[in-house]
Amino acid sequence: MAVERTLSIIKPDAVAKSVIGKILARFEQAGLNVVATKMLHLSEELAGGFYAEHKERPFYNDLVAFMTSGPVVVSVLEGENAVALNRELMGATNPKEAAEGTIRADFAETIDENAVHGSDSAASAEREVAYFFEDSEICPRTR
Ligand code: PPS
Repeated sequence: MAVERTLSIIKPDAVAKSVIGKILARFEQAGLNVVATKMLHLSEELAGGFYAEHKERPFYNDLVAFMTSGPVVVSVLEGENAVALNRELMGATNPKEAAEGTIRADFAETIDENAVHGSDSAASAEREVAYFFEDSEICPRTR
């Protein structure tokens, strides 16, 4: 299996619940290394640009309002099969449908405020990582 990178966002609801450490620990316990991370309070422009593909969807304005409502933690996770593994750890978009033991099942209640974002493909991951991070901000493991 190939070593991949994926973008993770711990959303404002999870930051407000003080579960940043618990969520990052799940990534690390599953074999995903955090190779870049930062806390940001997204502007409307930055959040809107990130979710541009959803611009025509009915929830777009609420999604941007939610994502700008408080700080987020944006990270690059690296490991074998990182994109799919992160999505497995996150659980379904709707926490009510998320499998037991997943991040969304444990830390989110509603589809509008669902604790985490993870890239949905290798191509999205490449675009999303570059959206938030310069190459020089990514620190692959040396030991
Ligand atoms: S879908 O509905 O399966 O196509 O959703 P998806 O393409 O995976 O992601 C849509 C992103 O919008 C967020 N969001 C919602 N999705 C669906 N319905 C409602 N009401 C809604 N509100 C917000 C959803 O969490 C996805 O965000 P990210 O950050 O990608 O997880």
